[in-house]
Amino acid sequence: MTGAGGQVGLALRDHLPAAEYLSHAELDVTDADAVREALGGADLVVHAAAMTNVDGCELDPGRAEAVNAGGAANVASAGARVIHLSTDYVFSGAEPGEYAEDAPTGPLGAYGRSKLAGEQAVLGRPGNLVVRTSWVYGEGRNFIRSILAAERAGKALRVVDDQRGRPTWAGDVARAVAYLAGRADTGVVHVTGAGDPCTWADLAEVVVGHPVERITSEEFGAPAPRPRNSVLSLRRARGLGVPLADWRESVKRYLENER
Ligand SMILES: NC(=O)c1ccc[n+]([C@@H]2O[C@H](COP(=O)([O-])OP(=O)(O)OC[C@H]3O[C@@H](n4cnc5c(N)ncnc54)[C@H](OP(=O)(O)O)[C@@H]3O)[C@@H](O)[C@H]2O)c1
Repeated sequence: MTGAGGQVGLALRDHLPAAEYLSHAELDVTDADAVREALGGADLVVHAAAMTNVDGCELDPGRAEAVNAGGAANVASAGARVIHLSTDYVFSGAEPGEYAEDAPTGPLGAYGRSKLAGEQAVLGRPGNLVVRTSWVYGEGRNFIRSILAAERAGKALRVVDDQRGRPTWAGDVARAVAYLAGRADTGVVHVTGAGDPCTWADLAEVVVGHPVERITSEEFGAPAPRPRNSVLSLRRARGLGVPLADWRESVKRYLENER
């Protein structure tokens, strides 16, 4: 797998222990020759390497394109079947309800645009599968750890309350990817935590156990725009028998290890 030092990469080791894990230091996916050499002999590649810093992508869209689109194209060209990790940010979030896999895309920013181009490169070859997920937390920098750190530092928690989605534990998406790795499904499938969607402020309150100050995206003022509705339909995943977990249960288990 690519991007093996990231949250999903680290979690996948528990589910596919025999696979080869290539971190950023071991394989830079923007290096087409290195990708061909490293992945040329593989039957299946889980491609999780990505520039995931959404605001960083907005500030350096050329780099985002090179890693998230160019990297995916290089991986797809290596010839193995690819399971490609992608994101709710390919959607604008302007539509109500849950986004199905075939809903029209319309990324708002550089991260989503570059990830969508990556999807297209991967889906341009037969046999490949795109797994879109959302709001991932695991072993790495993530929202839950930021909230816990702010709480420990005694800072007032002002949290965005106008973006809705479903948090996803890296271990849950890794388990789903391992399940899909043993099958031949193609196209796009959404895999997130299950259960009622929430806002970032709702999630923060689950994490700290007390009310937080709810603010708008404008008040927060991040450089990159974010979709207001990030809720992905899990209907196809359920139909395929993909194991899913209620996000509230997974957050609870994660917090037991973080405290
Ligand atoms: N995190 C989320 O909330 C989220 C939500 C939806 C979808 N996704 C998708 O899920 C996948 C995995 O995300 P994650 O949460 O595991 O992200 P992550 O923790 O940021 O891991 C991504 C990994 O990719 C590596 N990487 C960056 N540029 C690379 C390059 N040029 N060549 C090789 N590796 C490179 C990073 O290494 P460095 O740290 O050294 O740069 C990092 O180890 C990504 O495709 C992401 O787009 C994530």
